[in-house]
Amino acid sequence: MDNPTVWLNGELIPLSDAKISVLDRGFLFGDGVYEVVPVYRGKPFRLAQHLDRLERSLAEIRIANPYTRAEWEALFARLSATCTADPHSVYVQVTRGVAPRQHTFPKGVAPTVFGIATPLSLPNREKVEHGVGAVTHEDRRWLNCHIKSTSLLGNVLMAQYAADHDVQETIQFRDGYLSEASSSNVWVIKGGEMFAPQRDNRILEGIRYGVLADLARECGIRFEERPVTEAEVRSADELLITSATKEVLAVVTLDGKPVGDGRPGPVFRALYAAYQCAKEAL
Ligand code: PDD
Repeated sequence: MDNPTVWLNGELIPLSDAKISVLDRGFLFGDGVYEVVPVYRGKPFRLAQHLDRLERSLAEIRIANPYTRAEWEALFARLSATCTADPHSVYVQVTRGVAPRQHTFPKGVAPTVFGIATPLSLPNREKVEHGVGAVTHEDRRWLNCHIKSTSLLGNVLMAQYAADHDVQETIQFRDGYLSEASSSNVWVIKGGEMFAPQRDNRILEGIRYGVLADLARECGIRFEERPVTEAEVRSADELLITSATKEVLAVVTLDGKPVGDGRPGPVFRALYAAYQCAKEAL
């Protein structure tokens, strides 16, 4: 892993040879989008959905998609083959490219495309079996959270806020309603039913959002997508977080207080098991 092979602008090269200009707009403005795709036994999990979201993100920030669907699929396969670790994840990012610094879009500039496959360290047994902690914070990010943008300063600050409190995540509220955590979606369980905020501009629609909604149906858990109040989060029986790298985790303390009985609950256990089955069925 010291000098992995990476993708840069159409070729696979050693990381140590991968250089971009300091005038890249990803570097200057965070002007780009990205994806993180988990790969199990060499098989990407929900690649089509990740590529759909990448297409949507690119369209939102008006970068012409540099590759066809088949080219993206080939890129993911080639990058994945560079990493022997199982599981691993493939990260790709597309920026608006290199141009003299000015805020408006440059003309005639090719996007920069970077990709790397890295070992994926999933949450350990302790976290899966006993759950994790979270703290809360007002959501101060911009209102285009549905774009999977590399402009992640708001998220970075919230991830660090969690780390400073020695917990896994920061769960955010906007105007008294749940939005999402710094790098995960959040699910609330009350009276056996599951709720999550609507998929709009206030959250990133995680690929696991769709997966969990499907798994809930398969497990016979009632799921409703609707505004979730801060009070509902604070009085939940169970709280879950999901992301490509965390899969599904139970949040068992919130701001130092127990969630429900302070242990991962039955809905977590059912959905965690169903997620593992979905991976095995790949
Ligand atoms: N982040 N919301 C935010 C703000 C996120 O950054 C992520 C994932 C999610 C969950 O999305 P998904 O289920 O597609 O992973 C929700 C990735 C893993 C990251 O930035 O590394």
